[in-house]
Amino acid sequence: MSKNLKNEIETLKNEKNAIILAHNYQPKEVQEISDFVGDSLELCIKASELEDKDIIVFCGVDFMGETAYILNPNKKIIIPDLEADCPMAHMLTGEQVRNAKKEHPNAAVCLYVNSLADAKQDATTLCTSSNALKVIESLDEDEILFGPDNNLGNYVRAKTSKKIIPIADEGYCYVHKKFTPEDVKLKRKENPDIEIICHPECDMSVQNECDYVLSTGGMLNHIANSEKEEFILATEVDMISRIELEIPGKKAYPLREDAVCDSMKLHTLEKIRDSLKNESPEITLPEDVAKKSLKAVQHMLNASK
Ligand code: 13P
Ligand code: SF4
Repeated sequence: MSKNLKNEIETLKNEKNAIILAHNYQPKEVQEISDFVGDSLELCIKASELEDKDIIVFCGVDFMGETAYILNPNKKIIIPDLEADCPMAHMLTGEQVRNAKKEHPNAAVCLYVNSLADAKQDATTLCTSSNALKVIESLDEDEILFGPDNNLGNYVRAKTSKKIIPIADEGYCYVHKKFTPEDVKLKRKENPDIEIICHPECDMSVQNECDYVLSTGGMLNHIANSEKEEFILATEVDMISRIELEIPGKKAYPLREDAVCDSMKLHTLEKIRDSLKNESPEITLPEDVAKKSLKAVQHMLNASK
């Protein structure tokens, strides 16, 4: 990493009273210069605690930056590359959510945080892969409209007595879709003693073959506290970087080298420097959308405590 570039980012960050937040899937060099690295829920909680900062630089995908904006409409939320979006979020429109509510008037709406702001404004609550069950159990309603990730929906359905109703027929992450049960079986044959952990965005057939199904933050905690030394992860490849940086004594390997989220790789150190310098590109939302969505974000944060 260029020392000059790193110094420039540090100087700009201090001058502008900014903080850099990064998701666990960010490239290693971005994780290294960030002030806080975490999973979607940890980033959301962090974004709710930044009263003393003027600028948040969000190295993740746009829905994460939008959630930070919903919580902090008076701060500048900068995303180094505005093209960094989550294709899964686009698999559920606000209109689909509103129509589903009409069809199921007694149901609550729990949306995966990987969703569009237009959909979030009509949600009762939100969830991430680390708190989905807890959030759903906290709701009074027994029928829950859920989307866009149908794999996370299936994961929760297997653990709750509530009725989980998928809002859209198709909703999935193209990165986690790459994993197959055969991938898991093959790796297990080659490495019978290594634990295999997958993310709940993987298909149910993959979840059923793995030893644990955990969010990215859950993977980190599990590995840090496990007596085992080696792990195979069925999630985005840079989760390995996070383990290497955070828990140097442990070794994690990707189940597939091609499990790469293209959007997460758009942020580079040069773009982070330039975005801090120019204070753009900025993430904003229409005032009414941000105000309406805040209720669901706050419900999730309260239910996660
Ligand atoms: P986590 O909440 O587990 O970090 O997952 C976010 C995500 O986008 C996974 O693809
Ligand atoms: Fe979206 Fe999948 Fe990328 Fe996560 S890994 S941001 S769900 S495309």
